[in-house]
Amino acid sequence: MDAETNPRGPHGGVDPAAFRRALAQLAGGVVVVTSADARDAPAGVTATAVCSVSLEPPLVLVCLSAGSRTRETISTSGRYAINVLGSGHRSHAERFAEAGDGKFDDLIWETGKFGCPILPGSIAVCECEVEQSIEAGDHTVFIGRVIEVTSTEAPHDRPLLWYRGRYAHTSVEDVE
Ligand SMILES: Cc1cc2nc3c(=O)[nH]c(=O)nc-3n(C[C@H](O)[C@H](O)[C@H](O)COP(=O)(O)O)c2cc1C
Repeated sequence: MDAETNPRGPHGGVDPAAFRRALAQLAGGVVVVTSADARDAPAGVTATAVCSVSLEPPLVLVCLSAGSRTRETISTSGRYAINVLGSGHRSHAERFAEAGDGKFDDLIWETGKFGCPILPGSIAVCECEVEQSIEAGDHTVFIGRVIEVTSTEAPHDRPLLWYRGRYAHTSVEDVE
């Protein structure tokens, strides 16, 4: 069956809108993935497609779309930092979800051990070196070895979440 006659869609898969609706049910933590080019110009993107991969060695992955400028920077620099946002940092998430230049204008940030921007107030940070990059559909999967890691234990620090296309935060109640 060719792509045009396949009733399940041009890629032989599911309807894209149904796919988006299904994945919108998956609540995810919101991060800003940062990097810097050879001239130390910073780049950053809001992302939820982030996942731990391995404990020994410590590996995490991020998936960035083909159109992402941060993706291009990471491809050449081979380094990135994952800044896990707290619920008070929705403005960071909105800022880094914008396309174009100027995302770091008027922003205070620190430089990590490997030159990537670190956003103060992040509830956790993983600084990574790219071990492997995999082209997967319209995204690149960067698997990074974690070289430096920090996190806060403060009880009032809660993560910023993305759920059903909206920002959300956790409730402290356990699920029965
Ligand atoms: C909550 C949220 C999560 C997102 N997750 C991702 C993601 O995991 N991967 C991705 O490539 N883009 C993701 N985006 C879209 C990018 O943030 C957006 O396209 C951004 O403008 C890309 O910036 P850049 O071109 O400077 O890298 C997300 C956006 C939002 C609001």
